[in-house]
Amino acid sequence: MPCSSVVGLQWGDEAKGKIVDILTEEHDFVVRYNGGANAGHTVVRDGKTFKLSLLPTGVISPHITSVIGNGVVVYPPRFTEEVSGLTKAGLAVGDNLLVSNHAHVIFPYHMEEEKLIEGAATTQAIGTTKRGIGPCYQDKLGRLNGVRVEELLHPDHLRNRLRAIVTHKNRVLAALGGPSFQPFDADLLADEYVAHGDRLRPHVRDTTPLLLAAVREGKRILFEAAQGSLLDVDHGTYPYVTSSNSSVAGIWSGSGVPTRHLTRVLGVIKAYSTRVGGGPFPTELLDDTGEAIRRVGREYGTVTGRPRRCGWFDAVAVRHSAAFNGVDELCLMLLDVLAQFDSLKVCVAYELDGKRIETFPGDAFLLAQCEPIYETLPGWGKDITAARNLADLPAAARRYIDRLGEIVGLPIAIVSVGPDRAQTIRA
Ligand code: IMP
Repeated sequence: MPCSSVVGLQWGDEAKGKIVDILTEEHDFVVRYNGGANAGHTVVRDGKTFKLSLLPTGVISPHITSVIGNGVVVYPPRFTEEVSGLTKAGLAVGDNLLVSNHAHVIFPYHMEEEKLIEGAATTQAIGTTKRGIGPCYQDKLGRLNGVRVEELLHPDHLRNRLRAIVTHKNRVLAALGGPSFQPFDADLLADEYVAHGDRLRPHVRDTTPLLLAAVREGKRILFEAAQGSLLDVDHGTYPYVTSSNSSVAGIWSGSGVPTRHLTRVLGVIKAYSTRVGGGPFPTELLDDTGEAIRRVGREYGTVTGRPRRCGWFDAVAVRHSAAFNGVDELCLMLLDVLAQFDSLKVCVAYELDGKRIETFPGDAFLLAQCEPIYETLPGWGKDITAARNLADLPAAARRYIDRLGEIVGLPIAIVSVGPDRAQTIRA
């Protein structure tokens, strides 16, 4: 199994961190290739909880080399904060954590820009995490104002670049923010980011050749996606998406490793659906059932604390994302959260313009018009968090798992019945 990928098939927060953590045993490298500190990966191991936003989940396992690939956008204060959190927890973080010299850097003006644009009366807000992710990727693609990690290591060069960039940013932000806008000082920012560069320096490498060499040497690499595939900027519910390729599509561009080396794609799904921020969500439950899922599943954003929108499992959406990711097997997470219900619904098709459709309309404005068509399955009504084998589960829970696999059309390899590593069933 040289290269595997763990990818979310819904709108993020599928509990990918737990699966990556379990799979670290079988790998040498864990690579993050998209997004930044907008992600929230929680890992519970031996009763200890680790919350990561920017760093790959591999950092919790000392034998792993964790890589922040070129496709990631790095906010250096967050990097330092997470590293010191791990050090305090007794984990050694040295050259087992590498950052691509080509990853782009998030500055405070990115966050300011996002705040002003998302808050503008004329904008239909996406409901972003306000971590500066979108504006940083915009600068990357715009080229004139993008700054890569490598540049933090060259103080004079960085200062000159920031003087030009900050002049431009201050003009734009003053126009957006009006009289209350406080301009940024390029020299202060340069001082701050030179210091960040010094902290990052021991970790910075040209990670693409390093990963390609690892592939040649037969090392086992695990690619860890951030966010869910339905938030992918190209394949998700645009414009209500993040600004990177959060599906398998991002691996090649975001790490430099050709995806033909991938031998296994694991698609992670929750036993129900959630979404944070704006955008269409056909199976959303705005009633007590939705509230009960949120309460029991603790469905609040790890990064922003926002309550997540909750709904029934949407097999139409998952079939679509499983297909464009080339998923081999599914990991079914948070099954225990559904123990509270007498019956469960699964969306098997949509009604659009009075017609039944079984394919996912890729355009958000069409998806917003879709009504879910449900199949009802019996609930099991009892706690399953102690189950360790399929045979320990009530018949109705096994039936729910089988039916989900059947409708999506893929085998379910792992079922999770609680946050701890031990609460995992290999199906
Ligand atoms: P951004 O990534 O901050 O630009 O936000 C864009 C959209 O993606 C918003 O709807 C966010 O709520 C959503 N989003 C970003 N990161 C995550 C995540 O890790 N989990 C779930 N939703 C996310």
